Amino acid sequence: MKRVYLDYAATTPLHPEVKQEMMEALEGTYGNPSSIHSFGRESRKLLDEARSEAARSIGADFSSIIFTSGATEANNLAIFGVARAHAHKGKHIITTQIEHHAVLHPMEELEKEGFEVTFLPVDESGVVSVEAVEEALRPDTIFVSIMRVNNETGMQQPIEAIGERLKEHQAIFHTDAVQAYGLEKLDVTALNVDLLSVSSHKIYGPKGIGFLYRNDDIHLAQQIFGGEQERKWRSGTENMLGIVGFKKAIELLEKEREDRMTHYQRLSEKFIAGLNELSIDYHMNGKKEEHMPNILNISFPGVEVEMFLTNLDLEGIAVSSGSACTAGSIDPSHVLKAMYGEKNDRIYNSIRFSFGIETSEEEIQFCVERISKILNRLLPNHTRG
Ligand SMILES: Cc1ncc(COP(=O)(O)O)c(C=O)c1O
Repeated sequence: MKRVYLDYAATTPLHPEVKQEMMEALEGTYGNPSSIHSFGRESRKLLDEARSEAARSIGADFSSIIFTSGATEANNLAIFGVARAHAHKGKHIITTQIEHHAVLHPMEELEKEGFEVTFLPVDESGVVSVEAVEEALRPDTIFVSIMRVNNETGMQQPIEAIGERLKEHQAIFHTDAVQAYGLEKLDVTALNVDLLSVSSHKIYGPKGIGFLYRNDDIHLAQQIFGGEQERKWRSGTENMLGIVGFKKAIELLEKEREDRMTHYQRLSEKFIAGLNELSIDYHMNGKKEEHMPNILNISFPGVEVEMFLTNLDLEGIAVSSGSACTAGSIDPSHVLKAMYGEKNDRIYNSIRFSFGIETSEEEIQFCVERISKILNRLLPNHTRG
C-alpha cells in the first residue's frame, strides 16, 4: 500500500547524508572524547567541530552550547537550572498555556516546589502578546520561557519583542526553538534570549540528541552530577554518534534552509488550493502572517477526529491530532483549548498535517483526494454550500 508520511513535526527521518556520516563514525571513531590519548583526541575533534557548527548556526559562542539528550532535557535543564539557581531573587515564573509538555510539566513540578507560575493565555490565532508578558512581569519574576514556534499550529511567537522588553528586567529568558530551528535562521542576539533549546530529530538528524544554548553570563544549577563533560553543565559521556549525525544535519540545514522553506510554502499552498477545489469544508487554525508553512492545523466541522485519523491511516496517510487519546476518550489539545476555549468544536475536530523535504506535490494531491473521499463517507453533506 502507498504510504504518505505527513507528520514531520513529530519527527523526521534521517537524511541519507546524515546516515552516511554516522555509519562512518560507527565504524571508525570510538574513543572517549575525555581521554587524552589519540583515540580520545579523534573523538574530541569531532565533538569540537559539532559544537562549533551548532554555535555558528545560532550566532553563538563555542562555549555556549551544552549537548543534551534532546530538547526535553534541554528544557528541563533551562527550567530547573534557572529556578534553583536564582530562587533567592524571587519565585515567580512566566510561561504560556501553549508550550510543549517538555516545558509545561517541569513548570508544574516547580509549582509543587513553591514557585508561582503564570501560564499566559494566547489569542484566537495562537499568539501570546508582548503586553500580556509585560503585565505579568513582577519584581520577583526570575524566569520567562516562551516557545518560538508552536508544534501544533506552526504559529510564531514574538520572541524578539518580548526579549527586548526583558532587557531591563532581572528575568532570564528562554525559548524552546525546536520547531523554529529547521525553518528560520535564528540568531540568539537578535532574538534577545539567554537560553534556547533545539532538537536534532526535527531536522533530519538522529533522535536522542539536542542542545541548550546558554549565554555565558547565565548561571544554572547543575541537574546531572558526575564527570566534567559539557563543562559540568551536563555530566555523562557524550552521545558521539548522535552528535556526529546532528552536526551533519545542521550543515545540511544551513545549506538548504531557504530551499526547504520555499518547498514547504509550495506544498501548503497546494494543500489549501486542493481543499478549496474539492469544496471541502474546513477552517485553518492559526493565521497566515505568523505561520510557518510546514505545519497546517485544520479543523473539519462535524468530524470526529479519532475516526478521521483512523480512516486516514487506513488510506496510508500518517498525520496527527494534538489530542491525546486515552482509553477511548479524547483529551483535547491544550493548545487549541488555549486558542478557542473549552467548548469550541475545533478542539475535537482538528488535524495537524506537517510537511518535510521528501514530501511531494503528488503526495499532497493524494492526501487531499483521500480527505475528500473519507469526508464523503463519514459526512455525506460536508461540502461547502
Ligand atoms: C516544541 C517542542 N519542544 C520540545 C520537544 C521535545 O523534544 P525531544 O523529542 O528532543 O525531547 C518537541 C518534540 O516534539 C517539540 O515539538
